[in-house]
Amino acid sequence: MKIGLLGFGVVGRGVYDITADMEDIQVAKVVCLENVELPDAEVTKDFQSVLNDDTIDTVVEAMGGLHPAYEFVRAAIEAGKNIVTSNKALVCSFYDELLPLAESKGVQFRCTAAVGGGIGWLSELERSRRVQPIERVGGIMNGTCNYILDSMTRLGLGYDEALKQAQQLGYAEAKPATDVEGIDTWHKVILSSNIAFGISLDTATVPVAGISKITAADVAAFTERGYTCKLISTGKSLNGKYTAYVQPTLVKAGQPEAAVPSNFNLITLDGKYSGRMSFFGQGAGRYPTAYNVVQDCKDLLAGKGFYSPYGPKAAAVNDEKLTYYVRGTKDAWLEAHTAENWGDAVLTRPVTVDEIHAWLKNNDGAFIAAIAEDAL
Ligand code: HSE
Repeated sequence: MKIGLLGFGVVGRGVYDITADMEDIQVAKVVCLENVELPDAEVTKDFQSVLNDDTIDTVVEAMGGLHPAYEFVRAAIEAGKNIVTSNKALVCSFYDELLPLAESKGVQFRCTAAVGGGIGWLSELERSRRVQPIERVGGIMNGTCNYILDSMTRLGLGYDEALKQAQQLGYAEAKPATDVEGIDTWHKVILSSNIAFGISLDTATVPVAGISKITAADVAAFTERGYTCKLISTGKSLNGKYTAYVQPTLVKAGQPEAAVPSNFNLITLDGKYSGRMSFFGQGAGRYPTAYNVVQDCKDLLAGKGFYSPYGPKAAAVNDEKLTYYVRGTKDAWLEAHTAENWGDAVLTRPVTVDEIHAWLKNNDGAFIAAIAEDAL
């Protein structure tokens, strides 16, 4: 396999290093804006030279961002090259376009590193669904948020300090709002649901709430009552109905999610025959992420292409009722739905996920967290 590698940042460099001594995979060209010199690969700023090089059969996209990653990947598919990418925003945003295009052009498209970094989550999800209907996917999918929440809970750090550390350790995205507002997790649960359920979720129907408004006082109130706050994603399929959302969630000590430390991910599927299976590991970082990119390349060599079948458009209906911790705003709706007070905050009566997220849109200074009384 001869690779045209797009991007030589955290992931791209890792792919180059891991494949350096491989006989069956060779990074032949690297497209990047930095001036780097590599002993055994041509470095260029010109993407066209990858496109026009017939010896390159596979493009590994490790640039991140939507543009020009989208234009480059699309052009590479049109030119008949296989694609391996770790770019969840790209795959999630252009799912309906890139996947059918890859299928129609007869090229392979894999993106295992896009969800769970170094965890072989999407590839196992793909295997799992060959044998059983998948009923649920989700869990802790963002290392930065878990690092912040864990540091606040176990080490008593403030939010800003914990975020700064996550950035220094290289876990956070270039724009940390993507992590802390839940967008990165949102991309990941949409992509996981699409693959698990064989659909293409209408992204506008998947609500997301992040952790940026959480305070040390919130965390203290949770700890006092035996809860740990985690950013949890949920995707469910039941009798042809789909549910999908991302929100801070209070889990009880003893639930596996409560014990996930530092920047680790814990991603779970529930299947008809297997029951619950969870995958724990490094969801970010150079070598974990590059590891799964290279695994995808090995899969392509073994003739294993994309997670098909590609499915029809589907809307999420989030009418599940949950109890929420809400702090920061009080209005008539919240008062009408309050069950009890927790200091400055309130606990709601059970309300639907769609209802509380619609309320949050008009009260974006508030912090919400669902309470998970049962195992997730
Ligand atoms: N910023 C992401 C995280 C990296 O913190 O998990 C992997 O998507």
